[in-house]
Amino acid sequence: MLSTNTLQQFQTPCYIYDTELLARTLQAIRSELKAHDNYHVHYAIKANSNPQILQQIAAAGLGADCVSGGEIRAALAAGFPAKEIAFAGVGKADWEIQLALESGIGMFNVESFEELEVINQFATSMNLRARVSFRINPDVAAHTHSHITTGRAEDKFGIAKEDMLRAIRTAQQMPHIEFTGLHFHIGSQILDMKDFRQLCLCINDLQSNILDTAGIFAPNINVGGGLGIDYEEPNEHPVPDFKAYFDTFKQHLQLRDGQQLHFELGRAVVAQMGSLLTRVLYVKHGHQKQFVIVDAGMTELIRPALYGAVHQICNLSGEARMRAAADPHAEDKTMPVCEYDVVGPICESSDVFAKDIALPETFRGDFLVIRSAGAYGETMASQYNCRALPTAHFINKQP
Ligand code: LLP
Repeated sequence: MLSTNTLQQFQTPCYIYDTELLARTLQAIRSELKAHDNYHVHYAIKANSNPQILQQIAAAGLGADCVSGGEIRAALAAGFPAKEIAFAGVGKADWEIQLALESGIGMFNVESFEELEVINQFATSMNLRARVSFRINPDVAAHTHSHITTGRAEDKFGIAKEDMLRAIRTAQQMPHIEFTGLHFHIGSQILDMKDFRQLCLCINDLQSNILDTAGIFAPNINVGGGLGIDYEEPNEHPVPDFKAYFDTFKQHLQLRDGQQLHFELGRAVVAQMGSLLTRVLYVKHGHQKQFVIVDAGMTELIRPALYGAVHQICNLSGEARMRAAADPHAEDKTMPVCEYDVVGPICESSDVFAKDIALPETFRGDFLVIRSAGAYGETMASQYNCRALPTAHFINKQP
């Protein structure tokens, strides 16, 4: 961990990214992929699009999953090969479709008949062949927060299973469209492998009962992302269990000969390598509660406010004082632990990072870290209240 002296150099609030942990995570993914040569991982850029992080992930040989023209540009600039880019999203704008076609991306994940029509029009006018997979809504519920579950029939994403065959047949009749496969994504922060098993069973059913019967071969099956991480004990599980994840698909998904399997992992790749560093502005002693008011807020990390997400919070300065007090020569051995609400400065009552948590007695100027903030932290930051966007710093850089 960072010493409190080292921390003085950082202007808070800011993100601190651990390059070495990212390298270890990527290595863990790569070694799993070695065992499965038809598996491909596309990193979901939306989780963290910091250019240095993207470069490190591209250099490790992963592809990219993009959901906007901006993300396609970021992916290309970081060195992801265009052919390894998948482009998803329910609302692709005309310029984004054109950019994707000009760049020669690997595949569109198409979410409606209306979108297919527009892609076909642009591909025809540019005299290109667009590679198209269909995102199918599998109607599988993921056991996660309702804001991040995406594969139920009532969700806005994808084409209904009943319409899949019609979509493929329509695409096959379009000379400027090449049908490349099927895409699914059931949600995010999924820790129960049974949810992924359910997805596999749904895909098996679609393949046996619809595609095989119609004599259609889908060259690619893309199962999306969603693998969760341990927010409560990040030190226990700094690298997610990729083996259990990939093995679930190996065991339950029946691929046809020559079929390629694609994954779009975001959170699992970058969450644990990032922390939000913040300083205590005030410790406010209320009648019922004590508030630690920090200089970071929901503008830097919106997950607790938006999803009730739990992130571990450590008072690095307080922990350093505790270590000093544990020294046999220390004079002051009284180091109380207190209960606090940790809150930000934004004018919203949801601007709360944690309620009733135990921290070493906390003082103005202390450094706190909010852990597991590498995914959907910096990318979801806003300038609400005219605040500046957070900066990012890298530690444990590789030689
Ligand atoms: N593929 C598609 C089509 C997606 O919609 C997503 C995430 C992913 C892949 C990557 O999922 P991951 O592996 O990161 O779970 N802001 C929320 C998460 C939103 C996820 C949106 N889609 C949060 O902070 O929890």
